[in-house]
Amino acid sequence: MFAQFDKQIDEIISKMTLKEKIGQLNQEKAPSGKEEYENLLEMAKRGEVGSVLWASSAYAGAGNEPGINVELMDELQKCAVENSRCKIPVIFGRDVIHGHKTVYPIPLAMACSFNNDLVEKCYRATAKEAANDGIQWSFAPMIDLSRDPRWGRIIEGPGEDPFVGASFAKSAVKGFMGEKLSDKDSVVACAKHYIGYGASEGGRDYHRTEISDYTLYNFYLPAFRAAVNAGVGTVMSSFNDISGQPISSSVHHIREILKEKVGFEGFVVSDWDAVIQLVKQGVARDEKDCAELSLKAGIDLDMKDRAYLTYLEELVKEGIVSEELINDSVKRILRVKFAKNLFENPYRNQVSYDRKEHFALAREIAEETAVLLKNDNVLPLSKTQKIGVIGPFLKEKRDLIGSWTLDGKAEETPSLYEALLNRPEKENIVFADSLEELSGVDTVLLALGEVHTNTGEANAVAKLTLTDDQIELVNRVKSLKKKTIAVIFSGRPLAITRQIPCLDGILYAWHSGNETAPAICNLLFGDKVPSGKLAMTFPRTVGHIPMYYNVTPSGRPVDGYYGENPENCYNDIPASPLYPFGFGLSYTEFSYEDIKCDNKELSLDELKNGKKFNISVKVNNKGDYSAKETVQLYIRDLICLNMRPLRELKAYQKKEIQKGCDETFEFSVGYEELGYYYSDGSFHVEPGEFEIYVGDNCLTENKIVINVKA
Ligand code: NOJ
Repeated sequence: MFAQFDKQIDEIISKMTLKEKIGQLNQEKAPSGKEEYENLLEMAKRGEVGSVLWASSAYAGAGNEPGINVELMDELQKCAVENSRCKIPVIFGRDVIHGHKTVYPIPLAMACSFNNDLVEKCYRATAKEAANDGIQWSFAPMIDLSRDPRWGRIIEGPGEDPFVGASFAKSAVKGFMGEKLSDKDSVVACAKHYIGYGASEGGRDYHRTEISDYTLYNFYLPAFRAAVNAGVGTVMSSFNDISGQPISSSVHHIREILKEKVGFEGFVVSDWDAVIQLVKQGVARDEKDCAELSLKAGIDLDMKDRAYLTYLEELVKEGIVSEELINDSVKRILRVKFAKNLFENPYRNQVSYDRKEHFALAREIAEETAVLLKNDNVLPLSKTQKIGVIGPFLKEKRDLIGSWTLDGKAEETPSLYEALLNRPEKENIVFADSLEELSGVDTVLLALGEVHTNTGEANAVAKLTLTDDQIELVNRVKSLKKKTIAVIFSGRPLAITRQIPCLDGILYAWHSGNETAPAICNLLFGDKVPSGKLAMTFPRTVGHIPMYYNVTPSGRPVDGYYGENPENCYNDIPASPLYPFGFGLSYTEFSYEDIKCDNKELSLDELKNGKKFNISVKVNNKGDYSAKETVQLYIRDLICLNMRPLRELKAYQKKEIQKGCDETFEFSVGYEELGYYYSDGSFHVEPGEFEIYVGDNCLTENKIVINVKA
């Protein structure tokens, strides 16, 4: 897709000086103050600015960022396209992670919707708002697989599963890019952080990782492969090292795997200062070394640290870096600029959109991301019962939109308090500051959660419990012996193990964007039915980490995720998860019939030629509510050369089933679903038996066996 412009690009490159080429490989940060700005204009005229990142600090997602200044951007662009010799446009980027002005749920929550179309619509709407503000390139989606809820950036990605990650990547990339990347309302997407960042030891941001190629290909890479196949224009390399090799200097990971094996034709941008950090990481002597290592590794655009701008010319003249490598990087960057049509249309475009529609979308997805974890006949709330609401998150606004929201506003985010005041049931609600005020109510609603500043970049936590004051509140409310429901606004799975017995209902609301609270009210009062499913396992305690569903079998049954041998793993706590992957309750009850497969045997050749196993299951809605159900299909490859996980999600479908009715869910499982990667990156389906599980979470025992003949 990107190589189609290569002829024109080669022509341009042939006329560029080395300095001008290197200028294209340089990304500047947003200027702070007049002096920096004027300097930037001069640099653009000299052809030294390939791109500008509209953020001014390393922790853009957590700090206060300057707003976008479209006039400055246009003036700067004018210097590049009118006053520089080559007239190559600058590309403007910004972190637009889960919404621009209108904020949608954090990506981990969006993944819990298991609704790919809705996710795509949110990113489409996001692209329009961003494009209208002059942003041509978003540093999203973040698709780092992670098994560690301590990591602050867990909020930014789609959780622990490669298939969910790949689906999310595809939806987000398609949403950002729209019909055509050249359209005015499309934005270049960036798959980040390549690769393994989410595996940092202990959940400590930027720490080292150990990932074998086998694990890389089967777990960490699929989302990036999906992003590339969906046409992503850029990839951001990650800060971490893998087994001692920082990604910023890894020829193996960037050139060999991403560019050659996966076939990525766009460009790779480094993360903030990641090139010069090779000195701190101890693999480069000085910044000149860094520039050499990163360019050779395949990083095309240098984010903010000017190592390329300062040293590449010298390195070429000394014969250390070849000009061909530089040409290749320039070509990749220009491919994206051409695909985005920046040569014809370099300035900010006015894009019209209806903000009301975007808020409606934000509400719809927030309703689908909330996960009902427990319900002992307390939800939905009846319209007439007396409800007392208490808790530190009752009047909170900012935390509800989550971290990494540079342009979202707390003022546009109703608190739970405000949303409840908007309800017809408001006469029956007591907003309490103390327990005494709850004496006359039938049901207590607790507004609990975590602050957004505990999530995002450089914000890991070592504890996964609620804060002490919240734990105490739960215990004190329990002593009132009333029906108690907790709504939990959080960016990560929290180990609420000890609170569960005190609560009759738990609705996990996440940090779900501007419309979190109205959406939660709709769910609480039964206007909408919960349908979110966990995209990440809930551990019972920090000591459970890593706890993820797609574990491989062990020689002795001590694993425990699937309840094999509950006492034999840990002596002090059950080994099974608090809540498994894929889990989420509804107000209705679904029953699954046995799985059907029309052809239980296919040969390997037939599979290679595109034949598939056609699998179906009928799901009956036996309850009193029409509701959506996400049916999940997992496989287990029983015997193969390398150990394979006990379950691997390979498909899911979400559909509305009317009450009293049933729906048939049909899946096809073929070569792609049944295969896996060897350590050398080759893909294989090994003949033999496979178990196929279809159910409502990863623990389902509803299965059949299919056979692939040699
Ligand atoms: C550092 C973060 O790791 C990255 O995700 C972000 O895009 C850049 N800063 C730019 O803000």
